[in-house]
Amino acid sequence: MIEYILIVFHIIILVQCSYCPIKHIHSSTPTTGFIESPGYPSAYSAPLDCVFNITTAASNVIQLSFVTFDLASKNQLSDQCLDSYLLVVVVDRHGRQHVGERLCGTTVPSSINTMQSWMQVQFVTTSANNKHRGFRIQYRILSEAAIQEPISTLGEPIFSGCGGHSTPGQLSGEILSPGYPNTYPKNSTCNWLIRVEARQRIYIRIVHLHLAPTIAECERASLTIIDGYKHENYGTDRKESASETSEAKFCGSQLYYSEEGMKSYLSSANRIVVRLVTQEGPATSMIGEERIGFKIVWTAVEGLIGENGIDDGIVGGNGGAEACKDQFVCHGGQVCVEQGHGICASRSRLCIHSSLVCDGIHNCVEGDFSDEQHCYSREIITSAALGFSLIVLTMLVLVCCDQFRKRRRLRVLIRERRATENGKCNNNNNNSATTRVQPNR
Ligand SMILES: *[C@@H]1O[C@H](CO)[C@@H](O)[C@H](O)[C@H]1NC(C)=O
Ligand SMILES: *[C@@H]1O[C@H](CO)[C@@H](O)[C@H](O)[C@H]1NC(C)=O
Repeated sequence: MIEYILIVFHIIILVQCSYCPIKHIHSSTPTTGFIESPGYPSAYSAPLDCVFNITTAASNVIQLSFVTFDLASKNQLSDQCLDSYLLVVVVDRHGRQHVGERLCGTTVPSSINTMQSWMQVQFVTTSANNKHRGFRIQYRILSEAAIQEPISTLGEPIFSGCGGHSTPGQLSGEILSPGYPNTYPKNSTCNWLIRVEARQRIYIRIVHLHLAPTIAECERASLTIIDGYKHENYGTDRKESASETSEAKFCGSQLYYSEEGMKSYLSSANRIVVRLVTQEGPATSMIGEERIGFKIVWTAVEGLIGENGIDDGIVGGNGGAEACKDQFVCHGGQVCVEQGHGICASRSRLCIHSSLVCDGIHNCVEGDFSDEQHCYSREIITSAALGFSLIVLTMLVLVCCDQFRKRRRLRVLIRERRATENGKCNNNNNNSATTRVQPNR
């Protein structure tokens, strides 16, 4: 009986050995390390199904770079990775899995820079192949602050200002296309990364846009605003059906985005990538026209008040009411679709940092100018109040001085009178004695 149990145990152990157990790698703080195929640098065995589960805090990101890569090559008949392959799965903040293509052969894949905090690397082998060593991959967990914008490439070196990033603690900013307002560079990709504090979101307003004469010329130049937590496909990854709201693309000019709300974007969280992609420069028909390129204003949003009151739509942020405390709440107002038909809706009311009020830049949503309104009259009110208090103060001082002077004059008078009375007394001592005794009687 015992022997039988031992044999079963042995079989279980054997099975477990040929399948490697899932390896969990978790660090909430920035770190780096390596993952390797079983037995590396010796040849790997088969069959294997290994999973490396790498996770970190929500605001951190994971990047992979391949150090060595030596796997069996593609199956010659099917032209697919069958004998052994590596699969990289990126899980975005919504829990959606983005599965990359199967990697095999001996070509070292390019590094994978994600904006995500969860990744899985799966290593599958089906038939033993003793000639290949396997892989060694370096993973890097980067903090929010260390995240770089995607690489920018400038087609014409005479331009500057292609790409960049916001600075920590920045609450608002402006982005101009290179060469604005005269022209823009051809054959370029410019990436700007806007990153605010974890509790905030980003509101982008396009102040000006003129890239091409028609909206159909997206190839010539386009402006894209990408959610900073969107997983962007790498390499020759299969097409993912991106969710509608994680990206907004603008082509042509602002004439095509005339309705209120069309020239703006509110991020789902605290990161956003602004991207200009051009093939050609401005069309010849545009030369001499005013303001070619784009101008964007971005604002850190502390909270949001929608139609149904306070909305705490910030993932990981505190509640809307709490977030809007001590901040400026934009007035919002109504936007009416058809003039005179009464088809109206309330604008979103942003809560913005109070230092952005009356700073000369309109930070509330399109059509809502409340943060820059009444700035002049406020100045007038302040100076009027100041002037009034000055007058009151002066009057008070004058009255006090007057009182003081009067009292002093009175005291002097009394002293003088006493002095003259004393003079009389000294002349007639008896009288004074009787007068002094009299009250005691
Ligand atoms: C990977 O780790 C995450 C977080 O700890 C966990 O939720 C998930 O289930 C793990 N995946 C697997 C396949 O074990
Ligand atoms: C565009 O730029 C890339 C490099 O960024 C370069 O390889 C390519 O030749 C350029 N194409 C044109 C038409 O200038």
